[in-house]
Amino acid sequence: MNYDHAFHAGNHADVLKHVALLALIQAMSRKPQGFFLLDTHAGSGLYDLSADTAQRSGEAAAGISRLRAAHQPPPAAVAEYLVALARHPAGHYPGSPLLAAQGLRPIDRLLAVERVPKVGRALARALTQTATALPPRRCQTRIGDGLAALKSDLPPFERRGLILIDPPYEAADEREAIATAIGEGLKRFATGVFALWYPIKQRPVLNRWLNRIAKSTDRPVLLVENSVLPDEPGNRLTGSGLLVINPPWQFDSVMKDTLPYLNHNLRLDDQAPWRLDWLNPTS
Ligand SMILES: C[S@@+](CC[C@H](N)C(=O)[O-])C[C@H]1O[C@@H](n2cnc3c(N)ncnc32)[C@H](O)[C@@H]1O
Repeated sequence: MNYDHAFHAGNHADVLKHVALLALIQAMSRKPQGFFLLDTHAGSGLYDLSADTAQRSGEAAAGISRLRAAHQPPPAAVAEYLVALARHPAGHYPGSPLLAAQGLRPIDRLLAVERVPKVGRALARALTQTATALPPRRCQTRIGDGLAALKSDLPPFERRGLILIDPPYEAADEREAIATAIGEGLKRFATGVFALWYPIKQRPVLNRWLNRIAKSTDRPVLLVENSVLPDEPGNRLTGSGLLVINPPWQFDSVMKDTLPYLNHNLRLDDQAPWRLDWLNPTS
């Protein structure tokens, strides 16, 4: 279990996840009350795209670099994401906790959880060096288990919250643990916005798992996906998605305006699909 996000930073999956994260933050910020953002699998915060890891994988070159080279004017959510990236040193890519910290207001609160101590310490440093509107006491890094935080830190005292769950999907029992943790989170905080990132591979198995999570709640569930290759039953990564429980008002229409652009500019095959589907449409 030695997942290192430095190989993947700025790839097509990060692009989708981070555009959606900023759109969720913006939708939550329409209300004046502050909210809690829990980033359960935070990573180290800032990635050097000139480092050997990123250069060897070439994933950022096929992701954020292609998006930056696009000729058509971007939809609003992509334009905002590109502005957020431009606030970081050239040649570096910010991860979810840095983007979140910069998107939040002084009345909001961030808890970023990372299991690997060295990575968590790098994140704490990166957050300290990032200019944000959050007072330091409202911007915390914790070294520990992010799935456990769905029990220990919910419901938040703000009674409004966005939970980003971005696991590495390395362990055989990880899907089971994620589904259980989301169930625990919903038990404590049924109105929370839960955004679960997932890789698209083994489509039939994936669909069963997503449907199982959706059926475990009567709350609204939205799937937002972008693929770079057509679906296939095998184990190759063809795209990624977010399962969003309790999506905030108008998040779906923002993503509907955004997904065709991401898809057009990131796909490797003209048949690669994007998707926006309600799994619990009537609730
Ligand atoms: C996909 S990366 C996170 C990327 C980050 N969310 C971003 O978008 O920039 C997953 C991270 O989760 C960490 N991790 C793995 N299991 C964890 C757990 N149970 N709790 C917290 N962090 C965990 C890994 O060390 C890795 O840094």
